[in-house]
Amino acid sequence: MIKDYRILAVLALFGFIFFGLSMKKAMDQDWIKHQKKYYKQLGEDFPGAEVKQVNVKTPSSMLVDRCQTCHIGASNPGAAGFPQPLAAHPPIVPGAEKDPHDFNKIGCAVCHDGSPRDLDQHLAHGGQHGWIKPLLHGKQAQANCTRCHAPEGEGLAGAELYEEGRQLFLEKACWGCHTIQGISSSSQAPELTDAGGKFSFHYLEESIVYPKANDENSKMPLFDWVNDEHKVEALAVYLKGQQKNKLRSAESAPIGYIKPETKLARIETPSADAGRSLFAGAPFEGSVAKGGCVNCHAIRNSDGDLSGGVIGPELTWTIRLRGEEYVKDHIRNARVHVPDSIMPTFKDYNEAELDSVVQYLATLDFKFGETANGQQLFDAYCVSCHGENLDGKGETAPLLDPLPRAFTPQFVAAYEHRFADSIKNGVQGTDMPTWKNVLSDQQIETLIGFIKEKTLADAGDFKRLEVPLPRPGDPERRDHKGKGLTIEQGDAQRGFAAFQRFCTACHGKLANGKGPNAYALEHPLPRDLISKPFMNQTAVSDERLYQSILLGVAGTPMPAHDHLSDQTILDIIAFIRANTTEETK
Ligand code: HEC
Ligand code: HEC
Ligand code: HEC
Ligand code: HEC
Ligand code: HEC
Ligand code: HEC
Ligand code: HEC
Repeated sequence: MIKDYRILAVLALFGFIFFGLSMKKAMDQDWIKHQKKYYKQLGEDFPGAEVKQVNVKTPSSMLVDRCQTCHIGASNPGAAGFPQPLAAHPPIVPGAEKDPHDFNKIGCAVCHDGSPRDLDQHLAHGGQHGWIKPLLHGKQAQANCTRCHAPEGEGLAGAELYEEGRQLFLEKACWGCHTIQGISSSSQAPELTDAGGKFSFHYLEESIVYPKANDENSKMPLFDWVNDEHKVEALAVYLKGQQKNKLRSAESAPIGYIKPETKLARIETPSADAGRSLFAGAPFEGSVAKGGCVNCHAIRNSDGDLSGGVIGPELTWTIRLRGEEYVKDHIRNARVHVPDSIMPTFKDYNEAELDSVVQYLATLDFKFGETANGQQLFDAYCVSCHGENLDGKGETAPLLDPLPRAFTPQFVAAYEHRFADSIKNGVQGTDMPTWKNVLSDQQIETLIGFIKEKTLADAGDFKRLEVPLPRPGDPERRDHKGKGLTIEQGDAQRGFAAFQRFCTACHGKLANGKGPNAYALEHPLPRDLISKPFMNQTAVSDERLYQSILLGVAGTPMPAHDHLSDQTILDIIAFIRANTTEETK
């Protein structure tokens, strides 16, 4: 009997200890400690623990904000020097006598994000894995000013970092690829109108610093200023500020903040100076036209010094290489010349703005010495694309599509006869420029000699075969069963069927060169066979297509197809041509 009481007593004792411990743990909660410390700092008695809660009504829901349970001195100027989380809030609007924001009405999370219902520091600060709104530190909170205030304009005091990001978005040509409603319209990249609603601050920063983090084949340029943390932070603040879900509608935006008149000044008289500003992404006499070419393109000054980005080709000679009209068309929409170009569209430019850029580019007139040897000429004009080792992997190569040519020994041995023409007149539909107005015939010969000298030694006795294009009425060369077949006109319908069977793995169902195996190939990628500029140039004759399909393209992954009958190849050519022939109106 007695024994039983003892057990009960021991159990009861354990119960008490357990109860006591959990009471103590409850009393020990961080927020209570912070509150005790706060009153101690103030020199007042602790009035008892209390959860401080603000209910913020937003158009979509009620936001329960308990941050001030710990951040208890935020509105108390007397708590200025206190340690965090007890301190008075630093000024949000610089120079304002009294901050216009009442934390007892709007709480903290409307600006700082986080998870405002939680009372645990880690959780409240949005530390749980995958939380889309982790705490915005200090000035990063400016991302949320536009949830209540009007988004445009330079005007909002206290939103300087946001404004800096807005400027960078324009200056760094982000607007050229990304749409933000009301700011830009471009369809080359995901829309960012709701970037802040969809993505965390960290995701946005990372997308700018390392575009390939999201998509290995990302076409978003890797800019060379991305190790400047301040710039990246400003841009991320600006993007984080792009949220569809507002706390106030535009009509009820707080008074006192006047939406500045949107100035729509444009450049009306073309000048090289205006062009230089556009090129540099700098404002010109109040104009709102946007540029920023220098982020992607380098140019040489009159001393030959190169400066600018390496995402697109160097533009020192572009007017002489391509002519004014080509350059203007390219600025309006690069895709008319290079179907897979990643260059932004500048379709809002007026004639004066286009002329300005062209005038500026025309002032660049640096030329290398006439007597340069092959290596020197190649290093000056060709190396940025074709690479030091002639492997097509120059500095600007990664974002060009098609890739610059790799001068493999067999390729050079097979096609050397067409190089002079390709260098003089360019290869249409690709970034290989037209050099005839920059290089003399003699220099072009020197360059071809240089390319041959570097490569041909490894070609052995490789020789390109020549097989003439079969014509209707000719006997079928691969009539293996001896049926006496003769060639008829190519048939696009049959060609389509054969193409689907033999070619789509590399060239894709759409014949655009983007088949499932395309990216497994090293260099070059399969040809885009629906590129009109490429397919419709005289150099790309039916004979060339026939030989390339039958024999493959020497020195590249394009295989020979000598198992196909001549008729099938002609059918395929008819199919390819049907895709790219300009319709006659
Ligand atoms: C459980 C207590 C607690 C709660 C709840 C809490 N905080 Fe904090 N907070 C702290 C402490 C402690 C610090 C200082 C230590 C530190 O820097 O980590 C701090 C620091 C901060 C800082 C400055 C440091 C930084 O990283 O930028 C900000 C901003 C902040 N809190 C915002 C908030 C917001 C907004 C909420 C509500 C969503 C919130 N806090 C809720 C305890 C809390
Ligand atoms: C209207 C927007 C807004 C609200 C509301 C707001 N903050 Fe801030 N907060 C800011 C801005 C902007 C800064 C940066 C001030 C500066 O350094 O210029 C800041 C700075 C801070 C800092 C110091 C920065 C640091 O990293 O040390 C803390 C802590 C902080 N806020 C906490 C809070 C807490 C807690 C609340 C709620 C009581 C709150 N904030 C409400 C905008 C806001
Ligand atoms: C939750 C909504 C909300 C957010 C978020 C917010 N504000 Fe305010 N802001 C107000 C309100 C409300 C007023 C008071 C004006 C009024 O009486 O309508 C105000 C007033 C101001 C004023 C004073 C305007 C004047 O000329 O008197 C400035 C400046 C300001 N805010 C800057 C900011 C900055 C900077 C941020 C971001 C860090 C910010 N606000 C975030 C609601 C907000
Ligand atoms: C040449 C076109 C181009 C330019 C210029 C460009 N981007 Fe992008 N960006 C892309 C493409 C394409 C993607 C799609 C995802 C990918 O490929 O990484 C992307 C993705 C992003 C993303 C992630 C969006 C998402 O849906 O995951 C952010 C954020 C971003 N870009 C910000 C910027 C900023 C900031 C700038 C200016 C500094 C900029 N971009 C300039 C093409 C561009
Ligand atoms: C985001 C990077 C980017 C920006 C910004 C950009 N470009 Fe480009 N540009 C490219 C790329 C990549 C190419 C190569 C693909 C092509 O030909 O379209 C290119 C090609 C060109 C070409 C064709 C060169 C040739 O000989 O084939 C011209 C001309 C040109 N850009 C001019 C401009 C001008 C002028 C601006 C500013 C108004 C500009 N670009 C802004 C990336 C950019
Ligand atoms: C802006 C980048 C760029 C520059 C600069 C450039 N090339 Fe090219 N080049 C290309 C591209 C892209 C191709 C691939 C064309 C294609 O897909 O057929 C190419 C192809 C060629 C070819 C093969 C033509 C053919 O008929 O198949 C030759 C030869 C050539 N380049 C020589 C040169 C020489 C010489 C220079 C310097 C004077 C030069 N390239 C400068 C981009 C460039
Ligand atoms: C293993 C992948 C692969 C397959 C399969 C393939 N191609 Fe290609 N093809 C390529 C590559 C890579 C190139 C680019 C060669 C270059 O740039 O010179 C190319 C280039 C071409 C060209 C352009 C040749 C030229 O003279 O510039 C034509 C036409 C072509 N392919 C047609 C076809 C047809 C038709 C088929 C099916 C019968 C086919 N290809 C199957 C990889 C392939």
